[in-house]
Amino acid sequence: MRIPLREAKVMIVGGAGFIASHLADRLLDEGVQTLVLFDNLFMGRLENIASATGRGAVFVKGDACRRDELREAIEAHGVNVVFDLATKPLVYSFDDPYDAFMVNVEITGNLLELQRQGLFATLCHYSSSEVYGTAVYEPMDEQHPHNPTTTYAGGKAAADVMLKTWVSMFGLDAFIVRPFNNYGPRQNPDGPYAAVIPISIRRILQGESPEVHGSGEQSRDFVFVKDTVDATVQLYGVLKAGEEANISAEGNISINELMDRICEATGYGGEVVRKARRRADVDCHAGTNAYLKTIIDFDPTDIVSGLRQTADYYRDLLCGDACHEQADRQ
Ligand SMILES: NC(=O)c1ccc[n+]([C@@H]2O[C@H](COP(=O)([O-])OP(=O)(O)OC[C@H]3O[C@@H](n4cnc5c(N)ncnc54)[C@H](O)[C@@H]3O)[C@@H](O)[C@H]2O)c1
Repeated sequence: MRIPLREAKVMIVGGAGFIASHLADRLLDEGVQTLVLFDNLFMGRLENIASATGRGAVFVKGDACRRDELREAIEAHGVNVVFDLATKPLVYSFDDPYDAFMVNVEITGNLLELQRQGLFATLCHYSSSEVYGTAVYEPMDEQHPHNPTTTYAGGKAAADVMLKTWVSMFGLDAFIVRPFNNYGPRQNPDGPYAAVIPISIRRILQGESPEVHGSGEQSRDFVFVKDTVDATVQLYGVLKAGEEANISAEGNISINELMDRICEATGYGGEVVRKARRRADVDCHAGTNAYLKTIIDFDPTDIVSGLRQTADYYRDLLCGDACHEQADRQ
């Protein structure tokens, strides 16, 4: 019997990241006893977790590739449930392919070993739909073969295999949630590793043109971050050890169509700059909720509403009232 969340002492690894910060807010709403947010701030930001730390969550700056640092934080706070969300971005794997692969393996491996040694009871691991690569059939379900095309995805796929083998050998209580592309407030919009939605909105709000790589006909299945977090909390209650579930919005759209929606949400009518296709970018990436909906209640946010909430967040973050007034005039 899994520890109910309201009785759990939880640690989120990668806890200052985009999805993790929303999970932190949600776990506090669920009434967890303790919440530790462990992050090395590679992509994570303290602003993301200001609301959570204001409600009692504890931030620990640490490197999850170092097992001793994880062990110390888990022991110091009596953690019994861990959510594993730490990773380095897919785009980083073009700069340092080895590290991008290994970071996914090392973090999950460290956690599985600490769990095997009895340090905590339950591990919820975040995989990624990137493990599937370009679709062999669509929509992609949990049975779709793993054909990773980047070292990021290779490392994520390897971490999934690690989890399943540690579960089968040592009977650990560990399971996998596997989201498709997430978007929403707090996704890091800065620097070379930013994802298409936050970077495009930031460029538009700061007076630059958004960019599309390749033909723009490549498609993605974008899930609003709060839906992913809601599904995660529900899956904690139903997925058994070694099981996995995909989280998609079944809202597959092309990057060109997405850019049209971003332009609408931001009131932008200017140029969209075309850039070269990124090697190893997957072409189509459509998921299904068919299995998910048999085990939890799931009613995903539509992309127009999700993008509106996201654009509003970045307006507040980047330029305050001036941008809202400009948007109202458009
Ligand atoms: N964002 C998406 O579209 C998406 C889609 C599918 C799966 N996922 C998965 O969800 C999880 C969270 O992704 P996200 O988009 O919120 O990413 P994110 O980059 O915002 O969060 C990851 C966090 O991990 C931290 N981190 C990296 N290396 C670390 C280390 N060695 N020690 C401690 N912390 C470290 C980063 O600083 C960052 O805060 C990841 O496992 C990712 O693979 C994300």
